[in-house]
Amino acid sequence: MIELVGVEAGYGKLNVLHDVHVQFAPGMITVILGPNGSGKSTLLKTIFGLTSINRGAVRFDGRDITQMPTENINACGIAYVPQRLNVFTAMTVRDNLKLALRRETRATAERLLASAYALFPILEKRSAQLAGQLSGGERQMVAMAIGWLSRPKLMLLDEPTAGLSPLVSQEVFAALRQLQAQGITLIVVEQNARSAVKIADRVVVMREGQIAFDGEAQRFAADDDRVRDYLGVAKRG
Ligand SMILES: Nc1ncnc2c1ncn2[C@@H]1O[C@H](COP(=O)(O)OP(=O)(O)O)[C@@H](O)[C@H]1O
Ligand SMILES: [Mg+2]
Repeated sequence: MIELVGVEAGYGKLNVLHDVHVQFAPGMITVILGPNGSGKSTLLKTIFGLTSINRGAVRFDGRDITQMPTENINACGIAYVPQRLNVFTAMTVRDNLKLALRRETRATAERLLASAYALFPILEKRSAQLAGQLSGGERQMVAMAIGWLSRPKLMLLDEPTAGLSPLVSQEVFAALRQLQAQGITLIVVEQNARSAVKIADRVVVMREGQIAFDGEAQRFAADDDRVRDYLGVAKRG
């Protein structure tokens, strides 16, 4: 459903991704691993139209989205939850969610808000609180809910568990599973390799702007040498 073909992309004329060929099948959770600076965030940003794509193509559901503006990519059914959360800290949780619903009719907005609260119950409890007063995990849930409210078929999440305790990270991983259960395809950049691989269907490892491994999560986890090699690389990165 989403495919990069021979993509060279980066910032201005500087290419960070080099000849990237990769496909992501519908309904799967793919975890992207790799050392710092290997191009994981750049891969997500490239899909979402936030880099310059200097060669190759990005296709989504058979459409060429390579040079499409981000807003149109979002309208095609892709949501991006960046590493620096796009949550307004001086606004309440409810107002953050309502802002994401500003283009919907009132009836649709109310229905979607209720569905978001059903999916992330903690947000209903916190709805009147300022987003800036939430815990890190709760704020991550707000960011995920904002992405979800655009009714995406594909969600791109950049390090959703960064800075969270192991316990709270598990809650975020559980939320990812719930999104998958709704039929949403997920591409998730993670530092937390061991835990992330457990919820993943597929693992893609990046190194220096290229795909160094691409395969089933079980196969990745079963390959001790590969895991050790990856973790070694990650430590050096
Ligand atoms: N906005 C930017 N402008 C210029 N170079 C950037 C920008 N963002 C990232 N880079 C460079 O692109 C490379 C890959 O970065 P990134 O995709 O953020 O890696 P990762 O997410 O794997 O840590 C790094 O060398 C980084 O310095
Ligand atoms: Mg990154």
